[in-house]
Amino acid sequence: MRNLNQDTITQAVIARFSNTPDARLKEIMTSLVQHLHDFAREVKLTETEWATGIDFLTRVGHITNEKRQEFILLSDTLGLSTLTIAMNNDKPPGCTEATVFGPFHLDNAPQYALGEDIANGAKGAPCLVRGRVTGPGGEGIANATMEVWQSDDEGLYDVQHPGLDRAQNRGVLHTDSQGHFHFRSTLAVAYPIPHDGPVGQMLAATQNHPWRPAHLHFRIQAEGYETLTTHVFRDDDRYLDSDVVFGVRQSLLAKWAKQSDGSYLLEYTFVLNPENGRL
Ligand code: BEZ
Ligand code: FE
Repeated sequence: MRNLNQDTITQAVIARFSNTPDARLKEIMTSLVQHLHDFAREVKLTETEWATGIDFLTRVGHITNEKRQEFILLSDTLGLSTLTIAMNNDKPPGCTEATVFGPFHLDNAPQYALGEDIANGAKGAPCLVRGRVTGPGGEGIANATMEVWQSDDEGLYDVQHPGLDRAQNRGVLHTDSQGHFHFRSTLAVAYPIPHDGPVGQMLAATQNHPWRPAHLHFRIQAEGYETLTTHVFRDDDRYLDSDVVFGVRQSLLAKWAKQSDGSYLLEYTFVLNPENGRL
C-alpha cells in the first residue's frame, strides 16, 4: 500500500485491523479509526493543531499518578463518562440511578460500624446520614456493603491533602438485617475539580467553570443485585444545572436538613436493581 492520500488512508488503516481475532476489539478499532479520521477531515485539522492535541494528551499523562487521575477528569468533562454510564445502567423505574464514579474513590477504605463517624477528623459541619437499601419491592437488603466518600468543608478529599496519613470522610459500612444504615460525616459542599492541569486549561479556554454541586458518593454492593455507583446531591446547590462533569440526576437530589443544634440530617433510600433474571 503506497501513495495513500486523504481519500484512501482511512480504509487502508481499517484493513490493517481486519485480522484481529477478538471480534469486539476489531469492531472498536475500526470504528475508532473511522470516527477519528472523519473528525480530522471535518475540522480540517492543521499540523499545528495535531501537535497541540498530542502535547495536551502528553500533559494529561504526565500529571496522572496514583492520586491524580487526569484521564478520568478528561473523560468526565467531555461527558464520555456520563454517556457510558447512561448506556450501561438502564434500570427499571423506581431503581436508584447511577452517576459518575470520579477519581477519588479508594479501595480498602476503613470499615465502620453503623452509627460511627467516618469524618475521622475532617473539618465540616456535623451531619447524620441515614436511610435504607432496598429492592424494588421495598424489601430491605441486609448486609449490603456501602462505600461512602466525600470532600471536607474546603471541598477537598483526603487524598488531596498532602501529608495526610489517614482516611477522612470515607469508609465502608454494612446495612443491618432490615437494610437500614446510619453514619456520621460532615456537610457536603460544592467544590471545583482539580483544575491546575491540562483539563483545567481546557475548561478555562472554553469559558467553563470547574465546579461540582455538593454531593456524597456511594457504591453499594449486595448479593443478587447490580452494584450501584451513585451520589446524593444537595437539592439547594447553585451548580446543579452546570455540573462540570454532567453527573446530576433529578432523582438523586435530597435535602440536608439543618437541625436546631446546627448539625445536618440527610435521609435517603437506595433501591437496587436485581441482577438479570431476578426481576
Ligand atoms: C467527584 O465527584 O469526586 C468527581 C467526579 C468527576 C470528576 C472529578 C471529581
Ligand atoms: Fe465528588
